[in-house]
Amino acid sequence: MPSSPQLSERISRLTSSLVREILAAAQAPGMISFAGGLPSAEAMPLLRDTPHSHDWLSPVFQQYGQSEGEPILRARLADWLAECGMQVSPHQTLVLSGSQQGIDLAAKLFVDPGTPLLCEAPTYLAALQAFQLFGANCLGLPLTNDGIDPELLAQIIETYQPRAIYLIPTFQNPSGHCYSAENRRAIAEVLDHYALPLIEDEPYRELMYDNVDRTPICSLLKRAPWIYLGSFSKTLWPGWRVGFLAASDDLFPHLLRLKQAGDLHTNRPGQIRVANWLACDERHKDLAHLRETYRKKRDAMNDALTNTFGDLADWEIPAGGLFFWLKLRNAIDTRPLLKIALENNVAFMPGEAFYPASGQPVFGTMRLNFSHANSTDMRKGLTTLARIIENNKPDV
Ligand SMILES: Cc1ncc(COP(=O)(O)O)c(C=O)c1O
Repeated sequence: MPSSPQLSERISRLTSSLVREILAAAQAPGMISFAGGLPSAEAMPLLRDTPHSHDWLSPVFQQYGQSEGEPILRARLADWLAECGMQVSPHQTLVLSGSQQGIDLAAKLFVDPGTPLLCEAPTYLAALQAFQLFGANCLGLPLTNDGIDPELLAQIIETYQPRAIYLIPTFQNPSGHCYSAENRRAIAEVLDHYALPLIEDEPYRELMYDNVDRTPICSLLKRAPWIYLGSFSKTLWPGWRVGFLAASDDLFPHLLRLKQAGDLHTNRPGQIRVANWLACDERHKDLAHLRETYRKKRDAMNDALTNTFGDLADWEIPAGGLFFWLKLRNAIDTRPLLKIALENNVAFMPGEAFYPASGQPVFGTMRLNFSHANSTDMRKGLTTLARIIENNKPDV
């Protein structure tokens, strides 16, 4: 009998990603999916060819590149970040294979088995997965309408002495919340007071449909170390796998070495494509088109929700991002409903999955994506989901 190989202790903490499983099920023919966060093809900018991008003999297509990223892209990232309100030098930027890699690098940088780490409750599932793989004890801070409560944050820092905090302040995944300007300032003050490192993750930043404050909290910090994560997956093309980070000088050299150890560098043609897009005249038009396309989809989803879930749930209209966050009036655990929904050709994400394991999930929440389904499917899928919820009301 072949014995099973001995694996590292951390493999026992490697949870399967519910998102990946649901996404696989959501690919089935005829399935109406509200599950993933897939950008819509109609919203993506055109891939405009440039002479450079067709020069197959160029070293960019043939040779290894620098771990930091292509110099031209790093320079344009610094300009892009300046437009977002962050003054960083190109030398503080590191090109990543998607911002997911930045979460992995941050986990390797901060987490030992048992390390307390703060995050929002609910938060991005694959970040929980990455932090918990290295043994993080993820402690969730409840989201308020404003963001997170700065007094509670200070108390939790005093009590648990966490090593870092992971936040998605702009069009949060899964809740769609956007922190207020005042809350951002208050959080920065608390983090500075305790010199607590911030990992700020902003893949949805450009998907803004109503005007709201998006000042990066990292830009407000005076003392606390910081890592700012950005991505072109939701703005351009997720398949190119180009994201980036910027970090304070005390963290940057470690992150660069971790990147080197992980994959040497990000794919070079993808970096050049993104660098070209950042410099092209059409960029602002592309973003306007993206926002307009998603704004219409968001409004169509809100209308369809009002017609189907009006008596069953409460929600806010998200000012940006890709998700509605539903709070059912009957706070039932929505996880068992997923199987029934899939059997009825509708996929959604049960909200309970987005809560860190250390706390109690809040029952009766659902994350619904609005970028994928067309308006006919939206109405049809939501009608089916509402019927399933009605039929599974708890006995009173
Ligand atoms: C909050 C958050 N962070 C990071 C990512 C990963 O994005 P990327 O495609 O840049 O790796 C996602 C993807 O959905 C996300 O929602």
